[in-house]
Amino acid sequence: MTVDHENIVGIDGAIISHPKVWEASGHVKSFVDPLSECKKCHHRFKADDLTEDKCPDCGGEITEPRVYNILVPTELGVIEGEKIQTYLRGEACQNIYLNFKNVLDTIRLKIPFGICQIGKAFRNEVTPGNFLFRQREFEQWDLQWFCSPSEMDKWFEFWKKERMDWYKALFTHPENLTYFEHIKLAHYAKKAFDIQYATSPFGGKEIEGIHWRGDWDLGRHSEYSGKDLSYTDPETGEKYTPNIVETSGGVDRTFLFLLLDAYSEEGDRIILKLNPKVAPYKVAIFPLVANKEELVKKANEVFLSLKSEFPVIFDDRGNIGKRYYSQDEIGTPWCVTIDYQTLEENTVTVRDRDTTKQERLPVDKLLNHFQNKLAHS
Ligand code: GAP
Repeated sequence: MTVDHENIVGIDGAIISHPKVWEASGHVKSFVDPLSECKKCHHRFKADDLTEDKCPDCGGEITEPRVYNILVPTELGVIEGEKIQTYLRGEACQNIYLNFKNVLDTIRLKIPFGICQIGKAFRNEVTPGNFLFRQREFEQWDLQWFCSPSEMDKWFEFWKKERMDWYKALFTHPENLTYFEHIKLAHYAKKAFDIQYATSPFGGKEIEGIHWRGDWDLGRHSEYSGKDLSYTDPETGEKYTPNIVETSGGVDRTFLFLLLDAYSEEGDRIILKLNPKVAPYKVAIFPLVANKEELVKKANEVFLSLKSEFPVIFDDRGNIGKRYYSQDEIGTPWCVTIDYQTLEENTVTVRDRDTTKQERLPVDKLLNHFQNKLAHS
């Protein structure tokens, strides 16, 4: 977002802000989740997830849904009786609206432009679980794209496609990524689509939301803060409250779906076929054997020559076959073996995770070779 687009900047906002921010955003009043409980097994469900009037786990009778606000409260101030209650941020994007004017005045961007943020959000979820899928503390990435009201449709469609293309380029099974259109919309929204991963152990689920927020956010923050957050077009002189297209995704959820998407088994081999761009290690370096000083020394040199460029791991345990298997399992795309031929010719064996093919390459070409591979993965 911030590197490949000329008109998007990033910020890092506060986790705790004035309670009025959460009134203005509408969260104090309406950030609620209806929860139903089974009278027999006492399992709890989001009312929205229930398709029948009985418990999906044991068939028991379900209670009427009760509504809970899921903001996480905290207190600010030191003197008892004078402390004020506020909240940990329930969504990362509110900071972007609060900083809209600062960014506009300092960076001098012209509409349309975007502000991005990546950081923690906190929710008292009524049904946390499914590993990283629904947590009380999670990482969000957000783009808020500010545009003229007359261009909302165009930009909504642009970002909807752009974000889907981004996920498709990253996932091993892009055919599992689908759009889900929301029929029940928030009061300010004209359209809302989720990007879903269609086949997870718990069904098709949202990774990211593309939301039509219109002028709701800047309008409300302007009203509650008394600050004019309107924009005057420098060319036409037209004055308006910028409209917003939001793309908001979960880092943890993306990671969870990438794991599910990449996991595969071939015979007795477990392979995490992660796109090299998101593999935790790009290259593993092995000395053929651990007890030959010259081999270990040379392997260490190769390791250090690559380590400053991208994440590289060194492994001299067990035999080469076992090392390949253990790197396959954590998704390392390439393994480099330093052997006796290396000491004579300065070449190494490079083995590819997905094809298991091996090729011989000169040590001084390795950096360039892997940089090219990464750039085109
Ligand atoms: N500002 C809009 C917003 O927060 P959201 O659909 O509530 O929209 C955006 O959240 C993304 O954040 C979701 O698509 C999901 O990936 C992630 N997310 C939301 N709640 C989460 C939770 N409890 N645990 C992990 N990720 C969560």
